[in-house]
Amino acid sequence: MSVLEREHGRDAIDETQRALLNILEDLTAEQSGFEAGQRAVLNILDDAEAEKVNLERAQRAVLNILHDSEVEKTNLQGAQRAVVNILEDSEAENVSLQSAQRAVVNILEDLDSERSTVEVTNRELQAQIEERVRAQHEINALNASLESRVAELATANQELEAFTYSVAHDLRAPLRGIDGFSLALLEDFEPKLDPEAQGYLGRIRTGVSRMGRLIDDLLHLSRISRAEVRREKVDLSALALAGMAELQKSAPERALDFVIPPSLEVDGDPNLLRIVLDNLLGNAWKFSAKRIPARIEVGTEEQNGRHVYFVRDNGAGFDMKYVGKLFAPFQRLHAASEFPGTGIGLVTVARIVRKHGGKIWAEGEVDKGATLYFTLEKSIVCS
Ligand SMILES: Nc1ncnc2c1ncn2[C@@H]1O[C@H](COP(=O)(O)OP(=O)(O)OP(=O)(O)O)[C@@H](O)[C@H]1O
Ligand SMILES: [Mg+2]
Repeated sequence: MSVLEREHGRDAIDETQRALLNILEDLTAEQSGFEAGQRAVLNILDDAEAEKVNLERAQRAVLNILHDSEVEKTNLQGAQRAVVNILEDSEAENVSLQSAQRAVVNILEDLDSERSTVEVTNRELQAQIEERVRAQHEINALNASLESRVAELATANQELEAFTYSVAHDLRAPLRGIDGFSLALLEDFEPKLDPEAQGYLGRIRTGVSRMGRLIDDLLHLSRISRAEVRREKVDLSALALAGMAELQKSAPERALDFVIPPSLEVDGDPNLLRIVLDNLLGNAWKFSAKRIPARIEVGTEEQNGRHVYFVRDNGAGFDMKYVGKLFAPFQRLHAASEFPGTGIGLVTVARIVRKHGGKIWAEGEVDKGATLYFTLEKSIVCS
């Protein structure tokens, strides 16, 4: 090899060496670049790792959030359903509230009409009360005038009693005169008198004895009217049995069913009650004389919460049309020729009953008998 060639070879080597150096430098630079890049990549990778961790954390957080939000959503749905239910319930509630409200409105309307009815009733009641008060005033005034009338009547009655007594008493003397002289005329001058005159005289004497009985009855009645009632326990049955026994003595042959309870205790005046029973039994005995057998019953029954006593017979009876006359003096519903009497017995009985604070009334039917009822105490029942 020549030197030139060697020179050439060296140059080429140098060049190559330089080139290689360059390349090396470049490579070194490249390597440091690469290393830097690698570091950067590592950094980036680190960062990415951290980022990934962060991302994962964030993801977990997001997942948690998503999970939470899922739970939340479920809760929300539950709440929503509850709200819907509540809304439905409240709707139903609303409906029932509305119907309740309507019912209340109806009730209020009813109450309103009720109130107006009550107001009308109230006004009517008020008017009635006023009317009652007015009526009460009238009754009070009437009562006052009635009381004074009763007092006047009592005085008039007393005067009448005194008058009756004195008239009856005073009539006795002239009547005794007529009786005595008519008897003397008959006894002393009978042969001189023709039969017609004797007949007239006989009639005068019958009239005189009838008038005598009337006067006696009037005096008796007058005495009873003045008598004071002395109340005590009286056995009406015993009084009636004694009275009936007396009556039977007058006609022991009569067939009679006498019905009476063993004891009939009342509160009254025994003397006056004896007169009551004697008269009532006397009538029953008299007016049943044509019955075979006659039936006479003495008894008691409850009427409107009060004790009512009665004497009943199956005799001639009477027409209820004339029942009012029974208790008027000298009023008789039967002919004296058929059933004798003066017509003063029931007046006497009525006075005695009234003196006891009681009432007397009668029921009868022609040919079917009669019942005389009486009470002996004041009645609180209006009849
Ligand atoms: N039990 C009776 N049955 C039918 N009528 C009667 C009865 N009791 C009374 N009367 C009627 O009432 C009238 C009045 O009765 P009251 O006892 O007052 O008079 P009287 O018996 O006729 O006479 P006296 O004064 O003697 O009692 C009677 O005449 C008779 O018509
Ligand atoms: Mg009589």
